[in-house]
Amino acid sequence: MTAVGQPKTRLDGRLKVTGQAKYSDDFFEPKMLHAVIFGSTIPSGEIKSMDLRAARAVPGVVNIITHENAPSLGKIPKSMSIGIGENFMPLQTKQIFYNGQHIGAVLAETLESAQEAARLVKVSYLTKPAKLDFETSLDEGHDPLTFNGEKLSKKRGVGAQALAAADVTVKSRYTIPTENHNPMEPAATLAWLQGSKLLVYDSTQGVSSTSQHFAAAMKLKPENVTTITKFLGGGFGCKGSFWPHKAICVMASKLTKRPVRLALTREQMFTGMGRRARTIQEIELGARRTGELTAIHHVTYNDTSVNKDFPEPCESATPMLYQCANVETKHIVVPLNYITPTFMRAPGHATGSFSLESAMDELAEKLKIDPIELRLKNYAETDQDRGREFTSKSLRQCYEQGAAKFGWSQRKSTPRSRRDGDWWVGYGFATATYPAQRFNAGASVVLKPDGSADVKSSTQDIGTGTYTVMAQIAADGLTLPLEKVRFDLGDSRFPESGVSGGSTTASSVGTAVKFACEDALKKLKELAAKDKRSALYGEKELQIRDGALWSPKGSETFASLIARNGEIQGEGSLSMAEVMKAKMTGKSGHAFGAQFAEVRVHARTGEVRLSRMCGAFACGKILNPLTARSQFEGGIIYGVGMALMEDTKEDIRNGRLAVKDLADYHMPVQMDIPEIDVVMVDEKDTEINPIGTKGIGEIGITGVAAAIANAVYNATGVRVRDLPLTPDKIIRELHQQA
Ligand code: MOS
Repeated sequence: MTAVGQPKTRLDGRLKVTGQAKYSDDFFEPKMLHAVIFGSTIPSGEIKSMDLRAARAVPGVVNIITHENAPSLGKIPKSMSIGIGENFMPLQTKQIFYNGQHIGAVLAETLESAQEAARLVKVSYLTKPAKLDFETSLDEGHDPLTFNGEKLSKKRGVGAQALAAADVTVKSRYTIPTENHNPMEPAATLAWLQGSKLLVYDSTQGVSSTSQHFAAAMKLKPENVTTITKFLGGGFGCKGSFWPHKAICVMASKLTKRPVRLALTREQMFTGMGRRARTIQEIELGARRTGELTAIHHVTYNDTSVNKDFPEPCESATPMLYQCANVETKHIVVPLNYITPTFMRAPGHATGSFSLESAMDELAEKLKIDPIELRLKNYAETDQDRGREFTSKSLRQCYEQGAAKFGWSQRKSTPRSRRDGDWWVGYGFATATYPAQRFNAGASVVLKPDGSADVKSSTQDIGTGTYTVMAQIAADGLTLPLEKVRFDLGDSRFPESGVSGGSTTASSVGTAVKFACEDALKKLKELAAKDKRSALYGEKELQIRDGALWSPKGSETFASLIARNGEIQGEGSLSMAEVMKAKMTGKSGHAFGAQFAEVRVHARTGEVRLSRMCGAFACGKILNPLTARSQFEGGIIYGVGMALMEDTKEDIRNGRLAVKDLADYHMPVQMDIPEIDVVMVDEKDTEINPIGTKGIGEIGITGVAAAIANAVYNATGVRVRDLPLTPDKIIRELHQQA
C-alpha cells in the first residue's frame, strides 16, 4: 500500500493539540526586548514633531524607534518588488500615506511597559489632503497593465462591440468591500542581528523569500540570514510579503544590539499586512436566444494605495472559462490613502467569480434555461484565452456529481416557490476555478544507517498539512513506510523553495521531494553495484522495493548498504525558469469545480442562513483525502464569510477603519456553518507536473459568494449585487418587491 492517497491524520497534530508546537511568537531569546508599534492618526501628510517624554518615563522602556533614529535601510531590488508589501520602507521619512501607518515602536523590557508607553506617545502632524472615497474617485484611476506578468485588459474577436448584435444581454454592477485576512495567528517577528548575521523567527508564508528580503533591507549576505517558521496559524496571503513591521523589528535589534520580538495587535492586522482591495465590477453578457454566449464585457475597478499599484485581478478567469468568440476585459486601479492591498485567498478568482457567475445566473433566468444547462451550452473544451488544450478538465463531472449529491433536480426554477414557515428557501449554483501553478522549490533527502530518511525543504506548513503530505510523497518515493520518514521544513538553511501561496506548495515542493528521492535511489544503486561486500556487486539492473535493492542475484536493504558505506544524500529542485517554460509552451493547467448552496431567507428580517452547501472539485491527484477535504471546507467557509458577513468599513472622513477587531469584523463561527459536502472528483492528470496535483488551497472559496447570492435570488426573487448579503440590503429589496 502506498502512503500517497491515504487519509493520514496530521503528523504534527499531536504537537498542535498539546500546545507543544512552537509558533513564531513562542520563541524566546535571553535579553529579548518587546516592541510595540504605534501608528499615524492621519491619512496623509507628514510628522511635524513627536513628544516622547512621557513614553520614555515608563519604567522598563529602553528605547523608542522613530524616523529620527531609525537605521537607514537598503533599497529592495525591483526583481523582489512583488514580494514587498509597500513600496516604501518604514521610518525612513516623515511622510504619511495612510491612517494607521507604523510611525514608530517602543522597545521595552516587558510587553506591558511597551504597551503602556506606546499609548503615551504624542505626535503632531502637518496634514495634507487625502483621497479616501472610492466611489467618487473612479475617474482618477488608471490601467495597471499587468499583474504578475499577465495582461489584465484584453480583447478577442471584436470584443464588447458584439454586444449590440446579441439577441439577449444582461448588464450588472457588482461590488465587494475591503476584506481582511484575519489569520488566527497574528503577525509575529523575533529578530536578532549580531554583527553581519541575522536570526529571524517570523510568521511568514515564505522562509526563503523572507530571508532574501531581510538581507536586502539590512544589506546582509542572504546566506547570513536565517529565517525560521515551524508552524503557521494561517496566512491566506497576508503573510506572503515583506511588510513594514518586519523591517521595524530588525532595525530595533540593530539599534539596541538585542533580540527584539514584535507582534501586531489584532487591530494593527487591519492596517499592517495588506487587505483584499475593494472592487466594483461591471459585467455585460450577450447571448443567442438559445443560450450560446456571443460577447462578454468585464470591467474591474479596485482601490490601491498612493504608493503602489496592486490590482485585484477579477478578470483572470473571464477570457478562459466559457466558449465565447468576443471577450473584452478592462482593469482600472484607483489610488487612495489606505494601506496597499495584497494577495488574499484566490486573488481575483474569489472576487471575479462572484460577478461572472452571478451574471451567468441572471442570463439563465432571462433565457429561462437551467443555470447548469447554460454552462454546458458554453462549455470550453480548450482554454479560450490562450488557445491551448487543457492538461485535463473534468468540470462536466463536477457539475454532474455535485448536482447529484446536492439534489439540484429538486430546485424550483421560479423564485419564491418554496417557503418553510417564515423562511424562503432557495438553491444556487456557480462554477469554481483556479489555475494550477507552481513556484521554485528544492528538497534534500538523507538516507540513514538505521533505514530511515531525513527529508528537508525550506518550505512552510501554512496549516494545510505540508508536513504530512510531503512525508507521504517521500515515503513512496523511497519505498519506505511513513514512520521511517522525517520531513522538516520552515528553515531557510534548507533547500530554497517559494512562497506557500497560489495553491502551489504540494505541486512544487512535492516535485522537488520526488526528484530528491529519485536522486538518492540512483546514488544508492550505483553504490550497491560498486560495493564488493554487497550481494548486488556488479549488478546493473536493480529493482527497488520495500526499502531494499533487488536483483535476481539477491537483495540488500538500504540500511545495511548505508551502515557500511555512510549516508547517501539526494537533491531535487524545480527552478522558476522551468516553471515559466512549461507555462509558456505547455498545455493550460486549471482546476475546476461546482458550488451548490441552499439558503433560507427570513421573509421579514431579511436574514440569510446557509442551510446546506456542496462543492465538487476536480484538482488532479488528491495526496491525502483528509487534509484535502479540510482545505476545500476551509475555502468554502472563507467564501461564506465573504458572501454574508465580511466588510472592513472605512471612515471616508479620516481614513480610519470603523471595523478593526473580531467583534466588528464578522466571520462565520461554528453555528453559522451547516453540513458541507465535498465531492472530490476523480481526475488523473499525467501532464500537469510529476506529482499530478493541481492545487487545492484556493479553489474552495471561488464561486461560493455567487452560489449563495444566486440561491438568495432563487429563494426570494431579490438580486443583491453588493456583498456582503446583510439583512439591511435584503430587506430593502424585499420591501420594494412587496
Ligand atoms: Mo495566497 S492569497 O495564494 O497566500
